[in-house]
Amino acid sequence: MAEEFVTIRELGRYAGRIVRVRGWLYGRRSGGKIVFLQIRDGTGICQAVVEASAGPAFQLAATLPQETSLVIRGAVRSDQRAPGGWEVAVSDLEILQANEGYPITRKPHGIDFLMSHRHLWLRSRRPTAILRIRHTLIKACRDFLDQRGFTLVDTPILVPGAGEDVQTLFPVDYFGERVYLTQTGQLYLECACMALGKVYCFGPTFRAEKSKTRRHLTEFWMLEPEVAFAELEEIMELAEDLVCHIVRTVLSAHADDLTLLGRALEPLQGVQKPFPRLTYTEAVEILRGERTRQRLEAEIVEARRRLQNCVDELPRLEAQLAAVKQPAQREKLGNRIAELRETIADLEQELAVRPEHLRLAQTFEWGKDLGGSDETILSREFDRPVFITHYPREAKAFYMKRSAADPRTVLNMDLLAPEGYGEIIGGSQREEDLEALTQAMIEKQIRPEEYQWYLDLRRFGSVPHSGFGLGLERTLAWLCGLRHVREAIPFPRTLGRIYP
Ligand code: 4AD
Ligand code: MG
Repeated sequence: MAEEFVTIRELGRYAGRIVRVRGWLYGRRSGGKIVFLQIRDGTGICQAVVEASAGPAFQLAATLPQETSLVIRGAVRSDQRAPGGWEVAVSDLEILQANEGYPITRKPHGIDFLMSHRHLWLRSRRPTAILRIRHTLIKACRDFLDQRGFTLVDTPILVPGAGEDVQTLFPVDYFGERVYLTQTGQLYLECACMALGKVYCFGPTFRAEKSKTRRHLTEFWMLEPEVAFAELEEIMELAEDLVCHIVRTVLSAHADDLTLLGRALEPLQGVQKPFPRLTYTEAVEILRGERTRQRLEAEIVEARRRLQNCVDELPRLEAQLAAVKQPAQREKLGNRIAELRETIADLEQELAVRPEHLRLAQTFEWGKDLGGSDETILSREFDRPVFITHYPREAKAFYMKRSAADPRTVLNMDLLAPEGYGEIIGGSQREEDLEALTQAMIEKQIRPEEYQWYLDLRRFGSVPHSGFGLGLERTLAWLCGLRHVREAIPFPRTLGRIYP
């Protein structure tokens, strides 16, 4: 075997030539005197055909276990039925390492099983598609800010105190002193923006959130821009342009990956400026309103109807499965049944919580932070992301600037993604007045004595400034249409999961 190694993505350029491909066995199908291997190498999946005439390679191929690492050698030829349109007619096959018993098989697995095998599950089509989109999303965020003259500034991960609220801090023993994992880079970024003007950080952040929701991780990545002299409206425009840019970039680079994930593209194609802007007070009126009640009640009726349809279909499919012998058909049916069961479980869960969500919305009291279900209700009202601004002071962090027009509120914004995804961005204008900021800290149980360095920004050349944080996993979950943020990060950390 002396031919060049070729990646699966480039096969088309080698039509008619003999090549070598290195990879792993993804799947295998035998048909008498021929074995079809599906080989993946990280750049794609290709079909490798081994005919009985290939001699020893044929004997080997017929028994190879899933995920065997191997090298194949053979001629590249066009085949319309092969994934990617090209296949390799194998003449030689070298096994690098093989073992039976790969735990992730073609049969459906539950999400907990898959998450416990995340170190292997990463090799499957769905996770690799998501990881590729994550890569593009990160690059799109950085390119966008770089092109606008921002400087990347890395902020520390070990910090002496809270950057958001004192309830969700992860303590770390720092040579006998109690310090914490950072909740946000913001406070340090504010320092850097007084030095460089327009800055951003992008790194892991930590919250000891004891909530088991689809939106919460204990470790997540956040992109945070901070701009000197900017007021609220300016960073809202920045956020709007950023979101439009990432949606466009992901759509143009990953239509195939999104389709593989079952993501409908139309809702993303409709994401355009301007995004609607509501004040918190207006949002509360929507939540309490008659229209919301009618819409949610209609949704409950619709969910019941869909549930009934699924429940009726299940025994029909199960009867079909019992009658079918052919393995490929059995696999297909098995997958459909698993999907149906998942949909039923989802609908049942939805129906169990919907009436409570409706009650929470209708009795919402001005002053509270919006809950996850409130955000879902609001974000379903619009076909594009929506800004909610001017929250009550008591619901938000200490550093947000008070509104002069209505001192009960702050100059902040949350951006809710459409289709029920909820908050993906949180930001604000910052309090630049020393007195007002110190007062707000005391109210939020943050000790000003420990933040003298931060307060120095208000002592020496204080200026208006604003910024926001975009949660990478929540944004990715929305773009990919994922049920849960845990699929949006390679190795999720949640309440109850630190392995693998
Ligand atoms: O709204 P948050 O808490 O804002 C801040 O941390 C500010 N200091 C940012 C800034 O102004 N520089 O968090 C920002 C975003 C949220 O909108 C959400 O997308 C994400 O971070 N986020 C989480 N993502 C996953 N799991 C969690 N537990 C998250 N908490 C926040
Ligand atoms: Mg927030």
